[in-house]
Amino acid sequence: MSKSQPGSKEEKGDQSVRANPFDYSKTHKFWETQPVAQFKDIGDTSLPEGPIEPVTPLSEFKQEPYILPDALEWTTCDMNSDDMCSQVYNFLKENYPDERSPFRVDYSREFLRWALCPPGYHQSWHIGVRVKTSKKLVAFISGVPARIKVRDVVVNMAKIDFLCVIKQYRSKGFAPILIKEVTRRVHLENIWQAAYTSLDILPTPFSSCQYWGRLLNPKKLIDVGYSELRQRMTMSRAVKLYKLPDAPITPGFREMERRQWLLRKYLSQFGVATDFDEIEHWLLPRKDVVYSYLVETHDVITDFCSFYAVPFTISDNPKYTTVECAYSYYNVAETTSFPKLMNDVLIVSKKKGFDVFNALDVMHNKSFLKELKFDDPGDAAKLHYYLYNYHLRSALKPSELGLVLCSMITKGWEDFPQCRWGDSRSASSYGALSDHKM
Ligand SMILES: CC(C)(COP(=O)(O)OP(=O)(O)OC[C@H]1O[C@@H](n2cnc3c(N)ncnc32)[C@H](O)[C@@H]1OP(=O)(O)O)[C@@H](O)C(=O)NCCC(=O)NCCS
Repeated sequence: MSKSQPGSKEEKGDQSVRANPFDYSKTHKFWETQPVAQFKDIGDTSLPEGPIEPVTPLSEFKQEPYILPDALEWTTCDMNSDDMCSQVYNFLKENYPDERSPFRVDYSREFLRWALCPPGYHQSWHIGVRVKTSKKLVAFISGVPARIKVRDVVVNMAKIDFLCVIKQYRSKGFAPILIKEVTRRVHLENIWQAAYTSLDILPTPFSSCQYWGRLLNPKKLIDVGYSELRQRMTMSRAVKLYKLPDAPITPGFREMERRQWLLRKYLSQFGVATDFDEIEHWLLPRKDVVYSYLVETHDVITDFCSFYAVPFTISDNPKYTTVECAYSYYNVAETTSFPKLMNDVLIVSKKKGFDVFNALDVMHNKSFLKELKFDDPGDAAKLHYYLYNYHLRSALKPSELGLVLCSMITKGWEDFPQCRWGDSRSASSYGALSDHKM
């Protein structure tokens, strides 16, 4: 990996490229034809908040799938079939990560089943494209149903994720065909809105958040090149800096075992948030997928925290084959403070063998990031949130967002000098979007 050094010529070059990340002058041939907030409408407060296009009567709606090149065919992926689940797993493992990165995202089969098969899921929304003759998968996109609260309205939406096309078919307009096909199938279930995220700026994010990373196992992360020692930092000082106690500190902190409702009430305060109705599916602990903890005092649950797991494989390292990444999911601190609660989360995630804990600056996460030694890795770790066929009059700050869509940083490792300690570039220097009117 040829990472540029902090302050080097290459890095300064990188920064100038990133200096204007929100380039609203760029044309988007596909997205400009879709019912999404458009760049030209930014600042137009006369536009009403809500659906952009009315519901199309089913009889007028396209019933047949979009046409593919002759050699290819659509396939619906049954994730409960071990064989199909393995095909999707292998396809994503091979094609989802950025080939420039030595760290390759490796969603486990269990993770994919968790993310794609919540109660009430539609198999028809797990869409593959394969070669007719060999049956080999060449593209994939998925959706799952989700109730999402937008301001005071709960909207039935599709969460769209895992869009992926094999390298040979990229830049040929395949992604729009997949997006249109998943949209068609979502409409056939009488659902007209969707939520999705991207690292790219498309028309038009309603919120832009920043990933922060907290090193749990600095020695390994430096050894494998995931992190760098900043100037004047030695390995032993780094190990000391990120050291954590051996066991959680908050009395009553334990793994979640049963349904609890703290979360729904907590999430109701955010401008756009998940309206969880399948808490057991999304939050009851599943090994190597999702981990949830709560604080219980005298039979009363006062606090809740959770994270999900996505490993990255490492190429060409004699000692290690993976970097185990935990991603902050949903957290509620009512009695315990956020820093205290999340410190316990760091402790248990380290105990479980995770090497790094990543968190977006959504909800109240900013209240613990700096105190708990999370690093802001800079511009490349921005995640943009989008709504399909729903207009919000103004963009939301990350702290107004109560939605986490199992997305993660998967590309541009060269542009993502992970956690340069002591590099104090602040997220706010990049976050102008939060202030714009859409
Ligand atoms: C994402 C991926 C499918 C895009 O494929 P591509 O060949 O570059 O895209 P195409 O040329 O077919 O289509 C380009 C159009 O699709 C849109 N598009 C591409 N990726 C998108 C995404 N993740 N979300 C929404 N739209 C996307 C582009 O904005 C563009 O439309 P525009 O001209 O209106 O801006 C491909 O790069 C890939 O498989 N990457 C690896 C997996 C990955 O990173 N997935 C996305 C995670 S957020």
